[in-house]
Amino acid sequence: MILSIESSCDDSAISITEIETNKLIFHKKISQEIEHSIYGGVVPELAARLHAQALPKILEQTQPYFDKLKAVAVTSSPGLAVTLVEGVTMAKAIAVALDIPIIGVNHLIGHVYSLFIEKETKFPLTVLLVSGGHTQVMEVKSLTDIKTVAKSMDDSFGESFDKVAKMMGLGYPGGPLIQELAKDGDRKKHNFTIPLSQSPKIAFSYSGLKNAVRLAIEKAESKDEYKNIAASFEHIATAHLLQKLKKYFKTVTPQTFAIVGGASANLYLRSQIEELLKPYKAELLLSELKYCSDNAAMIGRVAVEMYKEGMFSSLEDLDISPKSEV
Ligand code: KG4
Ligand code: ZN
Repeated sequence: MILSIESSCDDSAISITEIETNKLIFHKKISQEIEHSIYGGVVPELAARLHAQALPKILEQTQPYFDKLKAVAVTSSPGLAVTLVEGVTMAKAIAVALDIPIIGVNHLIGHVYSLFIEKETKFPLTVLLVSGGHTQVMEVKSLTDIKTVAKSMDDSFGESFDKVAKMMGLGYPGGPLIQELAKDGDRKKHNFTIPLSQSPKIAFSYSGLKNAVRLAIEKAESKDEYKNIAASFEHIATAHLLQKLKKYFKTVTPQTFAIVGGASANLYLRSQIEELLKPYKAELLLSELKYCSDNAAMIGRVAVEMYKEGMFSSLEDLDISPKSEV
């Protein structure tokens, strides 16, 4: 079995995965959403302190499995430096105490493998990763052959939901709150411009849309208008992804397509992507809702593959890499 730790942002999570079968034996996650909610976003130092409290509490529950562990895995990149350190330090201590090898896992590859928890992998895949930290399209051929073909030039898709929710005084994380508010709103009421629609570039940008939404919020005569702003924002934020994907599909026809990351839980996005894929008859893979947001089950799933490939780190060399991507 492999014990895996995730602490790249505001979720403290530990999993135990069986190497032979990919079976998830144990998974526990403690989220910090309530603690960060009053600030309208993640406060790194507070997050680090909360990881330092939560991770040992979860680890205690995994003690019955200690003698079965063949390796310890941990998210080492990308993420917040002060929170990644919490997980990596704990993983190193476990590796030393139990005399087992350590595996450093890339969080973005973790999101891709959230599709395959307790399942066999299926490649090649075109993946749209939409999270709080990233918006990118990747061509995934295997564990070690992943190419990013488009990414955001500024804010990410999920982050733009968080910022709009903050501007409306709704709390954090913004994605589910905006989705809920948008349900009863008019998607066509506010005619926001689709970002980069005149640009031939296949890339994403959300900062301009965020500013347009800010102006609409300032102009709103009452809070009742927020539902229409939320609905129009969600529509345009999604339309931007669809427009660029359509452009990309002119050069690479999708066969198996997947959406992963915390914001892949968005129901409007899911339904619009389903429509987009119909003419191509492409298969759509989605993670289970509980594994869209950050978790350690996905880190464990990657770790199993890395273990089989012998992709271990040395204790001295394993370091956090907050900015590294794939
Ligand atoms: O993957 P994740 O848990 O953390 C990162 O790796 O960043 O993603 C969290 C992000 C937050 O920005 C959150 O607002 C967004 O995912 N999110 C959503 C929804 N649920 C979560 N965004 C839009 N619609 C949702 N339903
Ligand atoms: Zn994530």
